[in-house]
Amino acid sequence: MIRIRPVRIEDAEAIINLLNPLIEAGESTALDTVFTAEEERIFISEFPVRGVFHAAEQTEDGTIVGFQNVEPFATYTDGFAHVGVIGTYVERSGHRQGIGRLLFEATRLAAKDKGYEKFFAFVRADNVGALAFYKRIGFEVIGVAKRHAKIKGRYIDEVMIEREL
Ligand SMILES: CC(C)(COP(=O)(O)OP(=O)(O)OC[C@H]1O[C@@H](n2cnc3c(N)ncnc32)[C@H](O)[C@@H]1OP(=O)(O)O)[C@@H](O)C(=O)NCCC(=O)NCCS
Repeated sequence: MIRIRPVRIEDAEAIINLLNPLIEAGESTALDTVFTAEEERIFISEFPVRGVFHAAEQTEDGTIVGFQNVEPFATYTDGFAHVGVIGTYVERSGHRQGIGRLLFEATRLAAKDKGYEKFFAFVRADNVGALAFYKRIGFEVIGVAKRHAKIKGRYIDEVMIEREL
């Protein structure tokens, strides 16, 4: 069974083991540099108080099979305080088993409690799976930023998506 819970500093290693292969593959994310466990520990420990950071854990053995986080869209004004930027990552072997959906349900409720009113994200235009996932859970495409990412020397459009909570 899968349990969704707030991420802990001790999850750093598991998270980079999930994330770094995706970064190295260069196919789904705009992130281009792998993280060390220490960098991830710092990222978790300094995660914004208003943020939401959830891990999906296998109850049998505690394996982390996915995570999702929401950070404030911007901090230089309170004018964007109701907007959270969301990201979702699920272990490849766990795809299409409803883990992303479980993460989203928990994240949506936690984000509402923290005063967010909408989610926003950039998704690579070539990331067909992630776009289908976000659409399925109620996101809407609101635009395309052309040649917005440059990964391994190749320009990629970024699709802007949003969803009211
Ligand atoms: C996008 C991602 C998080 C989806 O996670 P997931 O746990 O596989 O998603 P779910 O099983 O909860 O899928 C829910 C629904 O979304 C849709 N969906 C999810 N992945 C899909 C895919 N690859 N193709 C088409 N539809 C998809 C389906 O409708 C699915 O329901 P169904 O399986 O009953 O048909 C996962 O594919 C992933 O981690 N990808 C790599 C990282 C990434 O690109 N993250 C996005 C960057 S922000």
